[in-house]
Amino acid sequence: MMKRTIGQTGRSVFCIGLGGMPLSIEGRPDEKTAISVIHAAWDAGVDFLDIANVYCLDQQDIGHNERLIAKALKLWGKPSENIMIATKGGLSRPRGDWTSLASPKELRRACERSLKDLQLETLFLYQLHAVDPHVPFLDSLGELIKLKKEGKILHIGLSNITPVLLESALQVTRIESVQNQCNVFYQRDLRNGLIELCSRYEITYIAYSPVGGSLGHLRVSQDPLLMRLAAQYDTSPYCVALNWLLQLGKNLLPIPGASRIESILDSIRADKISLHPEDMLKIQNIHL
Ligand SMILES: NC(=O)c1ccc[n+]([C@@H]2O[C@H](COP(=O)([O-])OP(=O)(O)OC[C@H]3O[C@@H](n4cnc5c(N)ncnc54)[C@H](OP(=O)(O)O)[C@@H]3O)[C@@H](O)[C@H]2O)c1
Repeated sequence: MMKRTIGQTGRSVFCIGLGGMPLSIEGRPDEKTAISVIHAAWDAGVDFLDIANVYCLDQQDIGHNERLIAKALKLWGKPSENIMIATKGGLSRPRGDWTSLASPKELRRACERSLKDLQLETLFLYQLHAVDPHVPFLDSLGELIKLKKEGKILHIGLSNITPVLLESALQVTRIESVQNQCNVFYQRDLRNGLIELCSRYEITYIAYSPVGGSLGHLRVSQDPLLMRLAAQYDTSPYCVALNWLLQLGKNLLPIPGASRIESILDSIRADKISLHPEDMLKIQNIHL
């Protein structure tokens, strides 16, 4: 079983995590189905779960994703110390929109609410969901550092971040993870050096929308190159797309979302193949 260490925390997880977003946003499955997807993932060895307070329908529904996980943990009935939960703060959902809300006061409020909704005393990995254009980045980060000193957060992660901002964050604190969009069709962080920068600092690069996103993922199943490679390696085009990410670096942790058990059970087979360097290159040039 291929593992990934989370930054320098010393904690290792299975190399495919579960993205919790499809379980709580518009189009989400009913609660029983959602919990069965989470349990199926845990039963199969997935021990990293990426969630957020804003994975919900709107502002009234904030915390849906976290309450769902708390319920799933209660109902699972198996030891759960090894399950690592990473949540996020810094956005809000007025009327269902996605907007920034990362002032120090709001981040503290969100973090405390997440602790309550998850029924935890400490958050293993707390990620700034996105930089708030109305708040100096180091002010948002400063509050996370305070929350860490108080023991509410064990480790800090950043999401939707640039190499320049990551470098400035590292001047003031340790960052264990970066979570950005990365998939076969969206390779920005491979080209701008962020993945390499994370590797240099032993920061886990968590690839979100790793199979193209909630709608974009259909493109994976229809792409001629991915389909051909899937047939060649006797796997699914999704596993080809995920294996490509896994092989970009030992610090890569893809977190495919799933609202069906079949999706996550397929995705976890991504470590069963090993794409040949020539095939890696073909995918790297998929757009060219
Ligand atoms: N930090 C951020 O700003 C940010 C932004 C977006 C996402 N994220 C995180 O990243 C996670 C993943 O991103 P995402 O959910 O946007 O996109 P994604 O993982 O690229 O795609 C998710 C969709 O792909 C389908 N899928 C995944 N694996 C499959 C497989 N092996 N076979 C068939 N279908 C498969 C699922 O379908 P079914 O629903 O039918 O199972 C799922 O709804 C999210 O859940 C969230 O935790 C973070």
